[in-house]
Amino acid sequence: MELSINSSRQNLASPEKETIRGFFEGIASRYDWINNFLSFRLDELWRREAVRLILGETGKDESILDLGVGTGKFLKEFVQTRSWQMVVGADFAGEMLGRARRQLPPSCMLVQADIHDLPFEDGAFDLVVSSFTLRSVKDIPHFFGEVRRVLRPRGRVAFLCLTRPTRLIARMVYAPYLKFYLPLAGGLLSREPEAYRFLSESIQTFIEPREIADELQRSGLKSPSIFPFTFGISTLILAHK
Ligand SMILES: C[S@@+](CC[C@H](N)C(=O)[O-])C[C@H]1O[C@@H](n2cnc3c(N)ncnc32)[C@H](O)[C@@H]1O
Repeated sequence: MELSINSSRQNLASPEKETIRGFFEGIASRYDWINNFLSFRLDELWRREAVRLILGETGKDESILDLGVGTGKFLKEFVQTRSWQMVVGADFAGEMLGRARRQLPPSCMLVQADIHDLPFEDGAFDLVVSSFTLRSVKDIPHFFGEVRRVLRPRGRVAFLCLTRPTRLIARMVYAPYLKFYLPLAGGLLSREPEAYRFLSESIQTFIEPREIADELQRSGLKSPSIFPFTFGISTLILAHK
């Protein structure tokens, strides 16, 4: 299958996005092991469980796009689980893409682009996925519109997000981890304290999974379903065009 890239859609202009991009460029070399350390390896479990749920739904998808592919960990799970005709990962951080290149097969296409403005044709993909990236998105309605545009009719979308637990007791245990441990340990290990302050604050303030589902519906994506993992610390949200 051929994929043509519309380069006029590549726009990395917003200074706020540039700040976020700077965080990821700065932590790329340590990103995977710090994630494993800070999440006690739960991030690996969540990605695997998400892939099982996503691919369990249907066996027919042939093309997949991962938005905010990072070092390629999520996309690699899909590639290892089954064969695809077209595999594409997009990210604006060159350092992250460099790492993804090393862990993904050469047939995977990696594109440096801002995911707010996707450089792909309408209806190019059967499945669009993204893990732990939605919090970085500045304009969610516009972004979901772009996701919908690049999906084929009945194509599916899956977002794996870091969220806040719903039960009071879990919230009480998680709050100090999120507010103090995460920015402190992440900042020390990465030597990029701003990046881990952003991580902590964006999880604390991000919209709830139900609101993400409502936003997906407003963007014309249908039947959203929500799967909380580990008391809701992480959540998978699925929908289709
Ligand atoms: C938290 S990391 C997640 C990486 C990977 N999906 C994973 O599971 O580990 C978020 C990624 O999204 C990318 N990202 C954030 N905002 C972006 C944007 N506006 N355009 C393109 N990539 C973006 C970052 O560069 C980073 O690689």
